[in-house]
Amino acid sequence: MLPLKRRKVSSANSGASASHSRDEACKFPQVVLYLLERKMGTSRRSFLTELGRGKGFRVDENFTESVTHVISEKNSSDEVRRWLSSRGHHATPVHLLDVSWFTESLSEGRPVDILSSHRLTDEQPQLESGGEQMATFSLPVYACQRRTGLNHHNEVFTDALSLLAENAELCQDEGRALAFRRAAAALKALPEPVTDVRRLRGCPCLGQRSLAVIQDILENGTSQEAESTRRCERYRAMKLLTGIFGVGAKTADLWFREGVRNLPQLRRSGRILNRAQRAGVAHYDDLMRGVTRAEAHAVVQIAREAAVAELPGAQLTLAGGFRRGKPSGHDVDLLITHPQEGLEEGLIPKMVARLEAQDFLLYHKSSKKSNSGSSGASSMDGFERCLCIFKLPEPDDGGLWRAIRVDLTVVPAGQSAFALLGWTGSKLFERELRRWASREKNMSLSSHALYDNRQGEYLEAATEEEIFAHLSLEYVPPTERNA
Ligand code: CTP
Ligand code: MN
Ligand code: MN
Repeated sequence: MLPLKRRKVSSANSGASASHSRDEACKFPQVVLYLLERKMGTSRRSFLTELGRGKGFRVDENFTESVTHVISEKNSSDEVRRWLSSRGHHATPVHLLDVSWFTESLSEGRPVDILSSHRLTDEQPQLESGGEQMATFSLPVYACQRRTGLNHHNEVFTDALSLLAENAELCQDEGRALAFRRAAAALKALPEPVTDVRRLRGCPCLGQRSLAVIQDILENGTSQEAESTRRCERYRAMKLLTGIFGVGAKTADLWFREGVRNLPQLRRSGRILNRAQRAGVAHYDDLMRGVTRAEAHAVVQIAREAAVAELPGAQLTLAGGFRRGKPSGHDVDLLITHPQEGLEEGLIPKMVARLEAQDFLLYHKSSKKSNSGSSGASSMDGFERCLCIFKLPEPDDGGLWRAIRVDLTVVPAGQSAFALLGWTGSKLFERELRRWASREKNMSLSSHALYDNRQGEYLEAATEEEIFAHLSLEYVPPTERNA
């Protein structure tokens, strides 16, 4: 670089130089370009090279350590790196840019500012070059446009954000809860761990509050806000009380304000509990313990026997978290249908009577199918449903058993794709699907149907793939819906 600078200064001092040496014509000594021939072709490369030199850019014929900007066309950053290292160049140049940066610079007559759109995708962060030159993560806005597997790279951040979301839910602050949930979901979809908040600039779903949490963790190892929430008496009591089946945030809040902090205090308080809450207290430890996949399959088998005995040909599908590949869950979500629509009607009471006679039920509360007119597009309770607590015999018998939460839902065949999509989750993924449908497609999606508001008609679908297609979304398999 140094000789170049000196020459440039001398050429400036000596006025218009007669020399046609490219070094002397160079107006931007900090910028040393190298055009990659791969995919660009020889003739276009030499054309662009001449054009660049004519405008005062230094364009080198060969790749050397002094090259600062590699310009390429239709290559990913990985392809460029592989090409360079295949030629024995292992040092990474500062910038891997698309030819658009070069053509814009040519028309401006100077090197233009590098925008993220100029950088080749999957480029490594340029940490040493400061904020402006750092490659930022880019993500689609809606969680249903992204693939989110069970495992990801940012657990330390998502744990804190999820805890804050949960606390906001316990405070019945839905807006804040959703903001934290969306932020956590965005981090789950990133291809690598966050090491610098500046790389999150421009990422969707990350508000000031969530960014502050991330920054805090990056600087101090933990989030002050999350840690103090975790220790907070109200949070702990509310979490414990809402963990009781049949107790929501409202009830728990009432009890907390009356001094109830835990189960013994609740028992001593002599409050009158409803039937669900009594079952919840009676089986508290079992229900808090979580359900393994093996236990879920055992429940499916028991439920299937009962369903098929009452309705030959009945089909059961395990939905919820287990369908997304989770190894354990808080309940078992089961969808039941029959290929011949109409036959499934009235199945829940028959199944329940049978399961009860076999001593498989500790608790159940059925809800009938509501009239089709009254179940709005966003309502989830239009199906015949039963919230149950199963009494599941332990594998080695001996009369031992444990309590397990089970959700049974009976679905008419024509709606089964919608029900399956709606009951697979995650909850945030479902929310984002409905938000996408209404905001971007002017459609209403529910677990029953998809309605096109513009055309004024229902769109039929026999599979989840067809629903994604109606919504102009790329299909996301269940195991990638863990947003
Ligand atoms: N769901 C619903 N209507 C309800 C409750 C739940 O449609 N009244 C849907 C949720 O939207 C979610 C699915 O049922 O898509 C499963 O919900 P849930 O069992 O609460 O969550 P999981 O993802 O299965 O998580 P877990 O493993 O903890 O059970
Ligand atoms: Mn579930
Ligand atoms: Mn459930």
